[in-house]
Amino acid sequence: MTSEQVREKFLRFFEKRGHTIVPSSSLSSDDPSVLITTAGMQQFKPYYTGEKDPLKDIHPNLGRPLGSKNTVSIQKSFRTSDIDEVGDETHLTFFEMLGNFSFGYKPGLARAGTAEGEPRPPKGGYFKKEAIELSHEFITKELGLTIDYVSVFKGEEGVPLDEESEAIWKSLGVTDIRRFGREDNFWGPTGSEGPCGPTTEIYIKGVEVWNLVFNEFYCHADGKLAKLDTPGVDTGMGFERLMAVIIGETDVFKTDLFLPIVKKLEEVAPNLDEQSKKVFADHLRASAFLIADGIRPSNKEAGYILRRLLRRVIAYEVSRDVHSDLFAVVVPEVAQKFSDVYPGLKNTEEILLVMEEEKSKFQAALGRGMKELTRYEKITTADAFKLYESYGLPFELIKELAPKGAAAHLRREDFDKEFEKHQKKSRAGAEAKFGGHGLLLNTGEIKAGNKEELNKILRLHTTTHLLQAALRKVLGNEVEQRGSDVNARRTRFDFTLPRKMTPEEIMQVEDLINNAIKKDLPVHKVEMSIEEAKKTGALHFFGTKYPPQVKVYYIGNTIKDAFSKEFCNGPHVEHTGEIGQVVIKKEEAVSAGIRRVRVEVI
Ligand code: SER
Repeated sequence: MTSEQVREKFLRFFEKRGHTIVPSSSLSSDDPSVLITTAGMQQFKPYYTGEKDPLKDIHPNLGRPLGSKNTVSIQKSFRTSDIDEVGDETHLTFFEMLGNFSFGYKPGLARAGTAEGEPRPPKGGYFKKEAIELSHEFITKELGLTIDYVSVFKGEEGVPLDEESEAIWKSLGVTDIRRFGREDNFWGPTGSEGPCGPTTEIYIKGVEVWNLVFNEFYCHADGKLAKLDTPGVDTGMGFERLMAVIIGETDVFKTDLFLPIVKKLEEVAPNLDEQSKKVFADHLRASAFLIADGIRPSNKEAGYILRRLLRRVIAYEVSRDVHSDLFAVVVPEVAQKFSDVYPGLKNTEEILLVMEEEKSKFQAALGRGMKELTRYEKITTADAFKLYESYGLPFELIKELAPKGAAAHLRREDFDKEFEKHQKKSRAGAEAKFGGHGLLLNTGEIKAGNKEELNKILRLHTTTHLLQAALRKVLGNEVEQRGSDVNARRTRFDFTLPRKMTPEEIMQVEDLINNAIKKDLPVHKVEMSIEEAKKTGALHFFGTKYPPQVKVYYIGNTIKDAFSKEFCNGPHVEHTGEIGQVVIKKEEAVSAGIRRVRVEVI
């Protein structure tokens, strides 16, 4: 059976049983609580909660109401949690998910749609009995597969053992029923809140193939579960895994969803190792889908995910010594295989253009990282980790490109340990409460030993203002100061950002600051009432109590067009030209969501 046949079979099976076929929604999610579409149920969230009526409200993908309380779809999905696992037989970033859904179940009216010849549309949604029976029929009769075993929720944290599902499976002749806990058999919500509930899962040939979620609860942002008025069904079956099981394989890259891509890669790069081949196949296919859905590489949200994928491909091309342009090789294959179902992929020119642009941007950073690498005589594990963090240089690349002998002793296990240590540190940091900002900025108190030091501190203090303004210009106004500390050697500045800065961003921030210095902008101080000061848009700490009169320092000719304006007690230099040249020495995590940069003047 080909994937095209299975696609068709699945949709028709459920359509015949009273389900409306709904096209996949975009990977670029309009649900504000998630970055990207991760599951088929996302586009149906409002139907589970009762916010929308499937029989009356227009569904955005269909242009008309769903017309049934039961739907079926094949959804483009993406999970970031697996990015680092890609390279084995089962992990993917982008995948398709086959699913049937039901909302508005009222006991008594339930039915799994209609068998042929019965009236349509079905009167009500359905729940456990019908959902399990439908999945059983599809797997065993339509696909002719044998179920190894199933799992049900064993009962935990106030949610009872799912005896009902157990009984239904038994009635269908399935005897190997295993009970698992919350980790395995409770699903959702997607994002910070939403429908969720216990699940039952179908295993074939040892592979978990189909996940049936019984949405009985609404999980609120604080983690509290509330019973939904009308429970629903949300099922999801990974297409790639299902195809692997159908062809008797465990490796998803052997299915026809990947084979044309893998073959092409083997053709142009015959010496590639298995792991790299899989990374290329997964990342390039995923990137093509993301771009076709309008996502562009950037430093934020879905755009950042795309950037990570493309950069990994580019770095791998270098480290694996691949000479073909894999973008141009793989994108047409993806289009050929999938564009009948997802027409956005036909636009291969645009997709390639976006990829090439990213390549030209990253090559500069990669080059910078490589240059940095040549400065070492001996690279410690900590250095290697720093190079990885600052320039995105993969471990293998560091080993390969380091000057002769400098990295010979580096071992992957040590690097992995360093990685873990770092992760633990940032987790611990996240738990520790992070408070306050530097004394200097709040009170104007200066701790300088002599005139020279004082002068240096003034230069660095003004730099701190330029830095904050530049960070917001490059990274967006979500950047907020969380702390700062200035001494005669450096300024340290902490701010909100959910990820590390890229090397280019660091360069852009540096450039913005140094340009403002070159222009020799005047630094002004004005005193005004707190109300007036807030109206100027000058930066200040929310929630901090300020006196009725405050000082605002602005850098530029007028307060309106100033490069930077902040509530501050000073003191500062008079003109930015006095600062000299600014370099960002370090960018690192302080805790989850908080970054720290160390800046020096030379
Ligand atoms: N939402 C569940 C999943 O993604 C079932 O569709 O696994």
